[in-house]
Amino acid sequence: MANSQDIEAIVRQVLESMDARGSSFGSASAPGGYSQASADIPKTAHVAMLTAIGHFDIKEFPIPPVGDDDILVKVEGCGICGTDAHEFKRDPFGLIPVALGHEGTGTIVKMGKNVTKDSAGKPVKVGDKIVTCMIFADDPEITMFDLNKKNIGGADVYGLVPDDEYHLNGWFADYILIRRPGSTFFNVSDLDLDSRILIEPCAVLVHAVERAKSTGILRFNSRVVVQGCGPIGLICIAVLHTMGITQIVAVDGNAQRLEFARKMGATGTVNFKDYSGGIEALAEGVKAQFGGHLADFAFQCTGSPAGHSNIYKFIRNGGGLCELGFFINGGDATINPHFDICSKEITTVGSWVYTLRDYATTFEFLKAAQKIGVPMKELITHKFALKDINEAYEVNLAQKGLKIAIIND
Ligand SMILES: NC(=O)c1ccc[n+]([C@@H]2O[C@H](COP(=O)([O-])OP(=O)(O)OC[C@H]3O[C@@H](n4cnc5c(N)ncnc54)[C@H](O)[C@@H]3O)[C@@H](O)[C@H]2O)c1
Ligand SMILES: [Zn+2]
Repeated sequence: MANSQDIEAIVRQVLESMDARGSSFGSASAPGGYSQASADIPKTAHVAMLTAIGHFDIKEFPIPPVGDDDILVKVEGCGICGTDAHEFKRDPFGLIPVALGHEGTGTIVKMGKNVTKDSAGKPVKVGDKIVTCMIFADDPEITMFDLNKKNIGGADVYGLVPDDEYHLNGWFADYILIRRPGSTFFNVSDLDLDSRILIEPCAVLVHAVERAKSTGILRFNSRVVVQGCGPIGLICIAVLHTMGITQIVAVDGNAQRLEFARKMGATGTVNFKDYSGGIEALAEGVKAQFGGHLADFAFQCTGSPAGHSNIYKFIRNGGGLCELGFFINGGDATINPHFDICSKEITTVGSWVYTLRDYATTFEFLKAAQKIGVPMKELITHKFALKDINEAYEVNLAQKGLKIAIIND
């Protein structure tokens, strides 16, 4: 296992070699050094602990002493991720009781004397806004440098770690204690609150597009299908659009979501519920949206086995597919290897989470999307106070909105 110094060195090296580096990492802020606590740090923090399946309790814990390598953050907000929803419904990771919330962001209010820079080498000080990132505990180099290698497990991220004596381990809280060395965090003071909450899910799509690019098929003038218009598919469209891809057809069964897909940059939409004639008719519907052509590349952004089976029919011979919809096991899907892959010479890549490099690229993506007017913030359809977190999860599970966020005062 690489230690945190290795991780920091690798991230710094990657960032230095990135074209998109520019202003966000070049801007000078005063080095942190030993930082005094800003005033008004309370003695206790409130944490939404998932104490039973389907139920959070707001617990109060003493704020522990901030060690030399630690950062105390006053939480501003945190998005609810599909993974949190699974944990809420079934506890598949066996973490209960657990402080959830990994799409969070907030303000540094106190930090130890050893903390001077973030994981990208950017100076940090009290008052800066940060996000945390999944730590690739096994070997951070695997997906960072070779996109063709298999992705890894064994990652830890605040919001999905077991409870311990600190308790301040998740972003659904008013304070979180980031313990270093060993934690990956970024100074993102140059992004507004809503953008910071969207970083984590956006990184998933930045990674998926990097995986797609590794096939050599996804190009500037490609015709691209995005199947599934939940937050993941919608952000996928936004990333493709921001990259300059101009022919994007969205497929879903929800008319409202398809309408939203157009706002994100889809140039055509297909509602599968309009096609009763089976997959052949549906494929014709997709083709019609591309002026009589099948797609060069497709992104599968549903957790539906039927969705996986269908998508091959939308892709031309020699085209490519990125399957990213099965973050969790959704069961087997049936395909015909002769018709769907072999005779069509389809190149398929899977995509799972992101790398540290993708995280940094995501900051630039969010700024670029804003510049061209992609209404990313409209993805956050509901905001709840921490005390109303159970209600927020109900709204999330009922799929009444897109991204649901907990926002503190
Ligand atoms: N690869 C990763 O790292 C990663 C990360 C996060 C989430 N995910 C996965 O991405 C998937 C999508 O996430 P989300 O938050 O957008 O979920 P979501 O449930 O909000 O959206 C899925 C969408 O797919 C549509 N859909 C369902 N079946 C369909 C079909 N057969 N054809 C077309 N559309 C269909 C639904 O109407 C819905 O709008 C999830 O299954 C999740 O596990 C993957
Ligand atoms: Zn997540």
